[in-house]
Amino acid sequence: MSNALVDLSRDGNVAIITVNNPPVNALSPGVPEGVAAHVATAVADPEVAAIVVIGGGRTFIAGADIREFGKITAGLKPKLDLHPMLNTMEDSPKPIVMAIHGTALGGGLEVAMAGHYRVAVAGAQVGQPEVKLGIIPGAAGTQRLPRLCGVAKAAEMCALGDLIPAPAAAQLGIIDQIIEGDLLAGAVAFAREAAARPIVKVRDRAVAAADVSALRASVAKRMRGQPAAIAAIDAVEAAARLPFAEGIVYEAELFQKCLHSNESKALIHVFFGERTVAKIPGIGKDVAPQVIARAAVIGAGTMGGGIAMNYANAGIPVLLKESTQEALDKGLAAITRNYAGTVKKGRLSQADMDKRLALITPTLSYDGFADADIIVEAVFENMALKQSVFGDIDAIAKPGAILASNTSTLDIDAIAAATKGPEQVIGHHFFSPANVMRLLEIVRGKATSNQVIATSMELAKRLKKVGVLAGNCRGFIGNRMFHQYVREACFLVEEGGTPQEIDGVLYEWGMAMGPLAVIDLAGLDVGYRIRQEFKHTEIAGVRYPFAADVLVEVGRHGHKTRAGFYRYDENRVASPDAAAEAMIRDAARAAGVPQRALQRDEILERCLYALINEGAALLEEGIAIRSVDIDIVYINGYGFPAWRGGPMKYADLVGVRKVYERIEHWHHLRGYHWKPAPLLEKLAREGKTFADYDRAQGGGE
Ligand code: 3HC
Ligand code: NAI
Repeated sequence: MSNALVDLSRDGNVAIITVNNPPVNALSPGVPEGVAAHVATAVADPEVAAIVVIGGGRTFIAGADIREFGKITAGLKPKLDLHPMLNTMEDSPKPIVMAIHGTALGGGLEVAMAGHYRVAVAGAQVGQPEVKLGIIPGAAGTQRLPRLCGVAKAAEMCALGDLIPAPAAAQLGIIDQIIEGDLLAGAVAFAREAAARPIVKVRDRAVAAADVSALRASVAKRMRGQPAAIAAIDAVEAAARLPFAEGIVYEAELFQKCLHSNESKALIHVFFGERTVAKIPGIGKDVAPQVIARAAVIGAGTMGGGIAMNYANAGIPVLLKESTQEALDKGLAAITRNYAGTVKKGRLSQADMDKRLALITPTLSYDGFADADIIVEAVFENMALKQSVFGDIDAIAKPGAILASNTSTLDIDAIAAATKGPEQVIGHHFFSPANVMRLLEIVRGKATSNQVIATSMELAKRLKKVGVLAGNCRGFIGNRMFHQYVREACFLVEEGGTPQEIDGVLYEWGMAMGPLAVIDLAGLDVGYRIRQEFKHTEIAGVRYPFAADVLVEVGRHGHKTRAGFYRYDENRVASPDAAAEAMIRDAARAAGVPQRALQRDEILERCLYALINEGAALLEEGIAIRSVDIDIVYINGYGFPAWRGGPMKYADLVGVRKVYERIEHWHHLRGYHWKPAPLLEKLAREGKTFADYDRAQGGGE
């Protein structure tokens, strides 16, 4: 007997219930009902002595169907209630054995805990990752888990959302047995033996209170702005205080509150967004990615070294070319130092470090470049130099090799023009430090082939990056928007704000760092040089941000000179610097910029709405495919808090019309820079959101 989503079969006296809801067996409508119905059938069948529940395909149950949450919060669907299914299972007089492979996550682990035993293959993982979606477990996870592994561990699992490998879960008491060999056969054998033992329900187990104050304090600091983490701890603690039935009610109250929060809406948007960005309209599965077995990188500076590490980390041999022995030695020393730091922290073994280093071959020549499937250029940001390098590699690369530039601002088409095969040229814009930051902005030129794009998107995954496709323009998605954001931060400091005041407001709002601290870190000279290069594009009479230039011109380049908007000690710890403030103040007076006290809301609005307005312009120009692509860029490359959803989702949550009205307000007051993007104006007028825009493009949630 079976329904489309859940199958019931028999192996002798053991009933086998198989969930078949690919790809991850989420608890979509029909699955809980199907499981409960099959359990009831098996219980009623006199020939059945025990029951096994297993997932078909690649995994056990990966949780509730996340797509349903948006419908629930929009009032289109009733509350999620998995308890009837869970109770049917736990109340079964015949033992139920949960057979786990792949992942038992969220509602999946909650299903597993409503069984009487859990067995798993060694490669399986379990966890309550709901907090990563801004919610807490909502199907008794916070009540059953502490009854298996204790309050302290359960609180940690629910608050941090980390996955636990099956062997560790077995030690914690979450899994009863690791199955070697065939999972189903092992689970059936286990179930037969269990049929002879009395049934113990997880809900009836004792649970003692534990001190979770240290976890609470660390979560409050590390996960600021995310109330779900604290709510998860509250709910787990209640398991030791309240009877099971009351604990469930308490959990449900907290779950509902979290589910309806903006943080949860933002994090769910990000969950799907990270998967959506991999989908490129017009490039289907028929476009087969090229094989990337060997790579070469040119330039072993800040970026080139980190890029080479990414390839080595993915097991891809990589040549690393420099122009002088000195620069090559310096680059390799930085790579070695970097790996050694990871070994010291216990996150990499010495053997793995050696293996990775052995994959990086330093060189001063182009020998071996003809074998590379991809060549990545990371030399200085200078068009003439990049064109000359691309001319060289075009002549030696094998046919079909991808030629990628790590430029952060330059025109990919102009770089491609130096080659005979512009269809092979693409931007691979990594972020600093390249071996750490998750974002890879992939920039398509006008001639870039679909196959080169498809290969780049797939390669991003292999390099453990989130690849986002951008169109070719100055600064692409990320830096073009960042330019507007930093402009406003500089204007604000010129108008009387202190760097720590401006950065403080944005940090407290959720940014990983304030804008001025970020440009100090990146090097104020970098932006300065770019501004000089683009000086000819300035418009007479339009205000120009000078605060950073004033500092650069007296040798304050940020971290690297231990002085920028802040002063830095030998450990690079920042402190406010009256000298920097005085210099900016003097320059502002000389330029006639009126000085005044700034309000928090003005700082926030001017910085964030400048991002949103430029994001809307990028969408309209087709530089970004969807608004969610912009959000993923900002979260993974610029320290934008995921729980705010990214700049465009934030605009949706604030209300596009409201954002538009404020931008109009700043436009009246401040002119040119604040001209509302026509798309923003259109959406506001039509009462639409950026999510609506994405849907109209055939993407998004
Ligand atoms: N609901 C709906 N769709 C889901 C889903 C879920 N729980 N989990 C994954 N998917 C979808 C993905 O969006 C993706 O769709 P796409 O192919 O259309 O883009 C597809 O399934 C495959 O997912 P991945 O690409 O992520 O596949 P991986 O093999 O890389 O990863 C995974 C598998 C580890 C299960 C990962 O998908 C994951 O972490 N999923 C989310 C798990 C989770 O958060 N569960 C808790 C849900 S909340 C809950 O259970 C509440 C409960 O307490 C009441
Ligand atoms: P860097 O100055 O640290 O390194 C550049 C290296 O290229 C130097 O070591 C130099 O010796 C080498 N080089 C120059 N010409 C060469 C040639 N012909 N052959 C071989 N090596 C050569 O510069 P960085 O910061 O690594 O920047 C490199 C590129 O990455 C630039 O295009 C930059 O815009 C981009 N980028 C920089 C980021 C950053 O935060 N530093 C972030 C993202 C992109």
